[in-house]
Amino acid sequence: MNVEVASYAGIFDTIKQRRSIGQMTQQQPTREQIERILEAATYAPNHYVTEPWKFFVLTGPAREELGKVMAEALEARLGDTSSHRAQAMLATERKKPFRAPVIIVVTIPGLRHLQGVEIENIEAGAVAVQNMLLTAEEMGLATLWRTGEAAYDPHVKQWFGLAPEDHIVAFVYLGYPAVSRPTRVPTPFSVKTTWLS
Ligand SMILES: Cc1cc2nc3c(=O)[nH]c(=O)nc-3n(C[C@H](O)[C@H](O)[C@H](O)COP(=O)(O)O)c2cc1C
Repeated sequence: MNVEVASYAGIFDTIKQRRSIGQMTQQQPTREQIERILEAATYAPNHYVTEPWKFFVLTGPAREELGKVMAEALEARLGDTSSHRAQAMLATERKKPFRAPVIIVVTIPGLRHLQGVEIENIEAGAVAVQNMLLTAEEMGLATLWRTGEAAYDPHVKQWFGLAPEDHIVAFVYLGYPAVSRPTRVPTPFSVKTTWLS
């Protein structure tokens, strides 16, 4: 291994070590930790330097508000909510934001606000999220990148002041791990790669 490669061993290890962890304790990461994660996000590559991301950091009772909005959105999607099953789904939806002490919502405006190619702004948002996950991993925190129907629902978007064409790229659930990291061995890159020379 040459010196240049060796100097990147730290980030390579962090990339390989990171796993999605759904079960977190309610211990809240500090403001400094959260700010470090947000700062890392802003260093993501972004075409035309649009810096398209906006972040919402939800803690404490703000999570209850989000749960309420997500449940209202689900109610509208379901239409008829008279069954026990529908009521159980609504109760589950309301509680979802409590699965972590912190939720960072990463949003990207639709094209009407920004120059560039819309998919590229979304891609930049996804890279920003990965920067966040890796920075959290380095600090020993747990993360789970969540989306689901709530992320695409206009009612939920509206609560964040977004228009229907804007994007919620991620609900990043953040906290301390309550379980050990699950193992996942990815398909080897050799299976996915064609070398052309
Ligand atoms: C765009 C995107 C959306 C995701 N949404 C969810 C989600 O809604 N719920 C969830 O449990 N995991 C979600 N994940 C996490 C994936 O399930 C997870 O990354 C995958 O299982 C691989 O596991 P790993 O992150 O531990 O490597 C999402 C990941 C991405 C990239």
